[in-house]
Amino acid sequence: MAAIPITRVRGANERLTRTSGHVALFIGATNGIGASTFHSFLKYFNAPKVYVVGRLKTKAAAQLATLQELNSAATIIFLENEISLIKNVDTVCAQIKEKEQHLDLLYMSAGYLAFGEPQYTSEGIDTCFALSYYIRMRLAQNLLPLISRSPRGGRIVSVLSGGEERGLIKNDLGLKNNYNVINVANQSTTLHTLAFEYLAKQYPNVSFIHVYPGWVKTDIFLNLFHSSSGCLLTLARWTLVPLFGLIATSVEDSGERQVYHATDPKYEAPGASGRNSHRVGAKSDIVVDDRVLGPLRAEGWREKVWEHTESVWAEALRVRMDVERKIY
Ligand SMILES: NC(=O)c1ccc[n+]([C@@H]2O[C@H](COP(=O)([O-])OP(=O)(O)OC[C@H]3O[C@@H](n4cnc5c(N)ncnc54)[C@H](OP(=O)(O)O)[C@@H]3O)[C@@H](O)[C@H]2O)c1
Repeated sequence: MAAIPITRVRGANERLTRTSGHVALFIGATNGIGASTFHSFLKYFNAPKVYVVGRLKTKAAAQLATLQELNSAATIIFLENEISLIKNVDTVCAQIKEKEQHLDLLYMSAGYLAFGEPQYTSEGIDTCFALSYYIRMRLAQNLLPLISRSPRGGRIVSVLSGGEERGLIKNDLGLKNNYNVINVANQSTTLHTLAFEYLAKQYPNVSFIHVYPGWVKTDIFLNLFHSSSGCLLTLARWTLVPLFGLIATSVEDSGERQVYHATDPKYEAPGASGRNSHRVGAKSDIVVDDRVLGPLRAEGWREKVWEHTESVWAEALRVRMDVERKIY
């Protein structure tokens, strides 16, 4: 499908002002693309109820006050939690299930760029891998019963790298022996798409949208360079960061595009292709190239990936219980 110009995206979003009463959950909306999407969402929807999960309420206070002013009819509920942990994902989902009968939108874009050695959470999963993949699928799985009850047709929008799939490292899905920055990016992208396709089969009325945002002017690269040292990185900081600033998309345009993906009929379930799992490119184009995914689907990797995912969750919760037992 062809690229959608940003003017068309904005035009469609401006017509959304009549829609009211949406219930949404935002993960990764305290910064970058997520924050911009959250802002656009509040700009266009009438009286939505939005749950937003973040690490620190005090840090998000100014952002939340601005958004409340932008849309005084909105109900914004901040849930303070460290979402890189599976157990915390379960807590957040339970809080929402207790309050809501349905969820119209689950939006996810928490993450950062991995560099160097894996950084394990207290549950034993690399944090970057957890945020890009394992927690997103846990949120989806826990909340799908609620999302499938959306009267508007529930959607899950996950911003990572849809359409940029590469071959799987099949004998080491969790990258225990093959961890590096490139492998984490590639493996989490392919696992993500295959897992969405697995879930999409079970929830045909829900739209699963895995987005590659292109290069977007957020702090994600700056954070990588600031947290690292070494001559090569110093050089990169002075050359790549300014170059990135010149060619990357504005965060405002990216936020507008994510709202478009969350609302336009093109991405609803099932789309024109008959599918309810979409890979969406940087210009809101639906990616149809199946050269990487076709053979993986034929070999049953959607199911195998899901089995792996469940086993990683189970192990993470077991590790967590051991840690808690030692503390108390
Ligand atoms: N920007 C790009 O050019 C680009 C390109 C391709 C793909 N992507 C993908 O798009 C997604 C969003 O990127 P972005 O550019 O918007 O990133 P960003 O500006 O750095 O924002 C990242 C978000 O993730 C949260 N986060 C980071 N580390 C976390 C942790 N340990 N625990 C909980 N939350 C954490 C941040 O929360 P805090 O506010 O608490 O820090 C923030 O809300 C990422 O998955 C990224 O890989 C981005």
